[in-house]
Amino acid sequence: MINILRLSHVVIRVTDLDKARYFYSDLLGLIETEKDGDYVYLRGIEEGQHHSLVLKKASSAGLSYIGFRVAKSEELDKAKEELKSLGLKVMKYKEKGVDDGLLFETPGGIPMFLYYDMEYVGDSRLDFYKHKGVNPIRLAHVNFVVKDLEKEIEFLKKYMGYYETEIFLDSDNVKTVSWLTKRGDSHEIAISKSSKNSPGFHHETYYVHDVKDIIRGCDILASAKLWDSIERGPGRHGVTEGYYVYFRDFDKNRIEFFSSDYIVLDPDKWKTIVWTYDQFRYRSDFWGRPIPQSWLTEWVPVEDISTGNLKGWS
Ligand SMILES: [Fe+2]
Repeated sequence: MINILRLSHVVIRVTDLDKARYFYSDLLGLIETEKDGDYVYLRGIEEGQHHSLVLKKASSAGLSYIGFRVAKSEELDKAKEELKSLGLKVMKYKEKGVDDGLLFETPGGIPMFLYYDMEYVGDSRLDFYKHKGVNPIRLAHVNFVVKDLEKEIEFLKKYMGYYETEIFLDSDNVKTVSWLTKRGDSHEIAISKSSKNSPGFHHETYYVHDVKDIIRGCDILASAKLWDSIERGPGRHGVTEGYYVYFRDFDKNRIEFFSSDYIVLDPDKWKTIVWTYDQFRYRSDFWGRPIPQSWLTEWVPVEDISTGNLKGWS
């Protein structure tokens, strides 16, 4: 098993870097570490690492890859051999602030990046003068879709050390969504079963300290005349307990702000919470308006790491 420490960052594709920078930093308040060529590097106020969200200029929207930090540098060599032995695409890879990393594709086709050491610039927790927008605290989780949900979950459990905190069942008692954690909060990864052949990326999520920050995000986008960017919420999920709101950027990439989920204090005692189909109304939304169709059916494609080509528009 690869000793993963935590979810670390997400690299997303945007078609207009200046507009994306305006959306994520000027309006929503992610702190800009730096802009370098076709990339803008952003982070939350609790994150001392160089970046947790990278905006990459590209010809279309989508996910480039999801980054995870491993617990020790030796894990990278071990991971390379282990992933290769599973027949997965694996390659050495560098990014800004990370000299030694590994890019691979999960069995479901999701590009992931492993590293140990990223340039450390220091957190901004007590630099209150830098806090703005919705005060994004830290990258909380990612949400993606794959065709073979069980195979993806098995990989994350067996090779990356994740465990399921909660699951959804459909009317035939077949699992349709899974929430998984390693770090110990309600989830770092949520995965849904897709009826389509290609994988897709649904959203990344930043934790905020206060429900008022979620409301403030709506106020900010509305005052910038971006009413259509407010896609779903505010509301409260039954699953994970979190208060939420979902926004879409200018390219239809989706970001969530989220607050007040739980911590798993004793992982060995945890029993996966199973939500049945007849709990549909309150498992997704403990309260809130019905889920818009766009949220249920639209996601952005992911890159093929060996070619840089996108796959999986929905
Ligand atoms: Fe989410």
